[in-house]
Amino acid sequence: MLRQLLLVALMVLLTACSVSESGVRYISTPTLAVDRLAVPPLSDNPTQLEAGSFIYKQVCMACHGDIGQGLTEEWRLEWEEDYNCWQSECHSPSHPPWGFEIPTTCCPSVSGQGTLMRFDTAAELYTYLTETMPWWSPGNRSTQEYWDVTAYLLNQNGALPAEVELNAGNAMVIQLRPASSPPGDLLPAVIILVAALIMAAGLLAIQNRWYEKSSP
Ligand code: HEC
Repeated sequence: MLRQLLLVALMVLLTACSVSESGVRYISTPTLAVDRLAVPPLSDNPTQLEAGSFIYKQVCMACHGDIGQGLTEEWRLEWEEDYNCWQSECHSPSHPPWGFEIPTTCCPSVSGQGTLMRFDTAAELYTYLTETMPWWSPGNRSTQEYWDVTAYLLNQNGALPAEVELNAGNAMVIQLRPASSPPGDLLPAVIILVAALIMAAGLLAIQNRWYEKSSP
C-alpha cells in the first residue's frame, strides 16, 4: 500500500515538473530573440578559435555579417535605422570626422562555398588581413589577433581543423584551394591521349605496309 502511494506521489511530482517546465518554456519563448549584433564576452583561457571568433564579432562582423555572409540586405536589416549604410550619418560621403565612407563594394562574404578563393594559402590570407583589414584602419590589431582571426576564418571555411593552432610556422602549407586538380579530372584527358597514340600507331603501321608494297 505504502509503495503504491509513493509511486502515485512520484508520478504526480513528475507530471507537475514537466508541466511547469513546459510552462516556463511557453512563457520564455517569445523573449528568446537572439541579438545577432551582441558580442559575447571572451572566456579567461580562450582557444585560438574562440579568440578569433571574438575579434571577428567585435571588428569584422559589422561589415562581413554574423556568419560571414557579407553585407547582405538581410544583415543590414539588423542595423534598423542605419539599414542604408551608404547614406547613414557616419558612412555617407559627408560623414563627420569620426566616421568613414563605406565603399560600394562593401562587403564580400568571407565564409561559405566559393569564398576566399583568391588566397592560395593561410599565409596569403593572413598577410592580406594585416595589410587591408579592418577596412577603415588596416593593421590596427596585434599580430596574435590577426593569426587568431585568420584561424577563425579558415576554420569556418573547413580549411583548418580545430585542434591545429595557426602560426607563422605552418601558415605556408595550409592550402585554401586544392593544389592541383584531383585525379578524376585528369581521366578524360588520359583516355583521349591513349586513343590518339593508338590511332597514330595504327596509321604508322598502315603507312609502313603501303611503302613495303609499293617499293620494288
Ligand atoms: C568597414 C567594413 C569592413 C570591416 C570592418 C572589415 N572589412 Fe573586410 N572587407 C571590406 C571590403 C570593402 C572588402 C573588399 C575590398 C576589396 O575587394 O578591395 C573586404 C574584403 C575582405 C576580405 C577578402 C574577401 C575576398 O574574398 O575578396 C577578407 C578575407 C576580409 N575582408 C576579412 C576581414 C576581417 C577578418 C575583418 C576584421 C578584422 C574585416 N574584414 C573587417 C570591408 C570591411
